[in-house]
Amino acid sequence: MPDNEEIIRLEEVFKIFGPQPRGRAFDLARSGMHKNDVQQQSGHVVGLSNVSFAIKKGEIFVVMGLSGSGKSTAIRTVNKLHDVTHGHVWVDGVDVQTLEGKELQAFRREKMGMVFQHFALFPHRNVIDNVAYGLKVQKVSRNEREEAALRALRLVGLEPYARNATNELSGGMQQRVGLARALASDPDILLMDEAFSALDPLIRRQMQDELMAIQSEVHKTILFITHDLNEALRIGDRVCIMKDGVVVQIGTPEQILTEPATGYVAEFVQDVDQGRVIKVEEVMTAADAIQLSAGFDEVQRAVAASPARLVVDDAGNCCGLITRSDVERVSSQGTPSLANAMRSDVATVNGSQTLNDIYGEAGKGLPIAVLDSNGRLIGRVDPTSVLEELGRVEALTDAFEREVYM
Ligand SMILES: Nc1ncnc2c1ncn2[C@@H]1O[C@H](COP(=O)(O)OP(=O)(O)O)[C@@H](O)[C@H]1O
Ligand SMILES: [Mg+2]
Repeated sequence: MPDNEEIIRLEEVFKIFGPQPRGRAFDLARSGMHKNDVQQQSGHVVGLSNVSFAIKKGEIFVVMGLSGSGKSTAIRTVNKLHDVTHGHVWVDGVDVQTLEGKELQAFRREKMGMVFQHFALFPHRNVIDNVAYGLKVQKVSRNEREEAALRALRLVGLEPYARNATNELSGGMQQRVGLARALASDPDILLMDEAFSALDPLIRRQMQDELMAIQSEVHKTILFITHDLNEALRIGDRVCIMKDGVVVQIGTPEQILTEPATGYVAEFVQDVDQGRVIKVEEVMTAADAIQLSAGFDEVQRAVAASPARLVVDDAGNCCGLITRSDVERVSSQGTPSLANAMRSDVATVNGSQTLNDIYGEAGKGLPIAVLDSNGRLIGRVDPTSVLEELGRVEALTDAFEREVYM
């Protein structure tokens, strides 16, 4: 199939909430009136106003907008959780609005997997039963559905947890179970509504990376909703920006960053394009520190695995840094101990600082310790990830400048 084949299309879709959705409120919205004015004049809420977009097979299409902009309403028209007031929704050539009853159920089950912000797992059932549940409902045989569930769990890296109860898992892991559940029936389309929004920044970033890695294996079509522009630009092949029920711009992350269609989009991206809004907590990784009390053997093993490690004391406070070369130096001369190898002048930041704040420090090439408000170590930032992250944004801006000025 050609890459650019369309699989989902919204065509001039309006969704009005209220007792008479096709009455005056619709006429007002259709005339282009802002949703606040429509509400004032008709008492009806405009969910979507003349929304059109087409999603290509195999792409990650991200709908981004602030709360209330109509993102969830849009995604719900795709699986007909909402009827539309006007317009058409096509999925793989089917006019979704014509589906009813069993046909609609089968269409939802076979064509699409859904992942939401709240995992909605059965807490007392084990992981594999949760993942296989949709297939059980479809009366797939036990062997077959367990096989499919294990395949999906392997994709999200949770195969070893197949027999654990879901309520024993962390939030990030539960969301991976949710993703595995959506993947288990091998649908063409994944609908993900704020799927990562409830997760901590660190876990969230890992999930974004994982989703992209999984996508490169399974090549689904993913309609992904988020209110976070960084997330949208990071994972989207194309991004659709919504405001007050209206589509403001659709484009690649490059286009959104460098050719914002309106002042509203420009305002959104003005910080992003300078790397200023990327926070430390978004790029930090697990601290993976070693204890101050560690023996020298352990220290040697630790730096063999990664060339620089942070050191914490019993209270969880960061007290220093050891590098592979420091450890090699003290093991060949002097007394081989952690205390002798350790530097105490480790750079520290807090999670809400931005990458620009630590750019200079990152230039020194050593990991930077991330501390919480009590001074305890919660993560580390490696210079390469700072440079990579800023570099990505710079590369986008550069590409744009080349296009414009050459
Ligand atoms: N069932 C409903 N009844 C009335 N208004 C609704 C309903 N669902 C959504 N809305 C309104 O539609 C608009 C878009 O909502 P929604 O799509 O949930 O936004 P988002 O997902 O972008 O936060 C909001 O103004 C919201 O209050
Ligand atoms: Mg929503």
